[in-house]
Amino acid sequence: MTKTLTIRRPDDWHLHFRDGDTMRAVVPHTARQFARAIVMPNLSPPVTTSALAAAYRERIVDAVPEGVEFTPLMTAYLTDESNADDFAAGFADGVLTAAKLYPAGATTNSAHGVTDVANISGVLERMAEIGMPLCVHGEVTHAAIDIFDREAVFIERVLQPLVARLPELKVIFEHITTRQAVEFVDASGANIAATITPQHLHINRNDILVGGIRPHMYCLPVAKREEHRLALREAATGGSAKYFLGTDSAPHHRHDKESDCGCAGIFNAPYALESYVSVFDEEGALDRFEAFASENGPRFYSLPLNEGTVTLEKVAQEVPASVAGGAAEIVPFHAGETLSWRLAS
Ligand code: NCD
Ligand code: ZN
Ligand code: ZN
Repeated sequence: MTKTLTIRRPDDWHLHFRDGDTMRAVVPHTARQFARAIVMPNLSPPVTTSALAAAYRERIVDAVPEGVEFTPLMTAYLTDESNADDFAAGFADGVLTAAKLYPAGATTNSAHGVTDVANISGVLERMAEIGMPLCVHGEVTHAAIDIFDREAVFIERVLQPLVARLPELKVIFEHITTRQAVEFVDASGANIAATITPQHLHINRNDILVGGIRPHMYCLPVAKREEHRLALREAATGGSAKYFLGTDSAPHHRHDKESDCGCAGIFNAPYALESYVSVFDEEGALDRFEAFASENGPRFYSLPLNEGTVTLEKVAQEVPASVAGGAAEIVPFHAGETLSWRLAS
């Protein structure tokens, strides 16, 4: 008999939808699997105010296929000029679910990001007061710091001091990639959590570089050594309520990845649940998948759990070499591989 797993309908607590034709091509993949998603604001130009977030939310809602229920949860992009009153008003009326900290220059479309966390201390104090969560891309950007060390150094130089100064602030350490991040989150209070992507559970840095350079395995923070991948698998499947599903699905057209300066980002939305569940299966932790995918996130964000369920079945499926992406095709994570699970309903 086919092995199946039925869980409460999950959410994706970190992804990128982009805008325009690309957005319209990628939203259905997420809406097929997830009830809600935290939408990252790194458009060009970025979504820096609650008014811009409200307008972007409308465009996403228009891209959801007829008959599918899906709610985008919006974030605002912090800059050195962010306005605490605007963020607080957006959070109060439900337009904004969180604010996002991009250190300037850290990743895709982060040029307008924060140059020094000291410049946003007023906004962060206000967020701590009102219970508005802060999503963090946790990498330092200093040229002297090796790219494989940028997350660990960020913990020491930015995150630890920030958490010490604002112990009430809810912080989501996004897309963690290191053992040091797991140790930091485990040692912190209940108001510090982390998202983990499918790729960081599946690949290490050899997958990017051995036998030829693999641009579709490249994202930021970049995948690290095997010991870090194993620490992330333990964190995700170990039953702690501090870790939850956030795909960091980051679509870039094929030609922008396969380039002499290829973009960072892995498009994992089409088979995200299947990719994650295979990890939990391999770790003998299928009984912990529902908490990771459907419970820990909403509890941390103080949002209701979803009604309804999805069922996964252990049936092999092939992942196509590419999928439609609006103006050009996009190569999905696991392209050309066979996944051992599929979403049944
Ligand atoms: C993301 C993107 O393309 O927007 N890229 C990535 O490699 N993760 C940005 C981000 O989440 O850092
Ligand atoms: Zn990021
Ligand atoms: Zn991201």
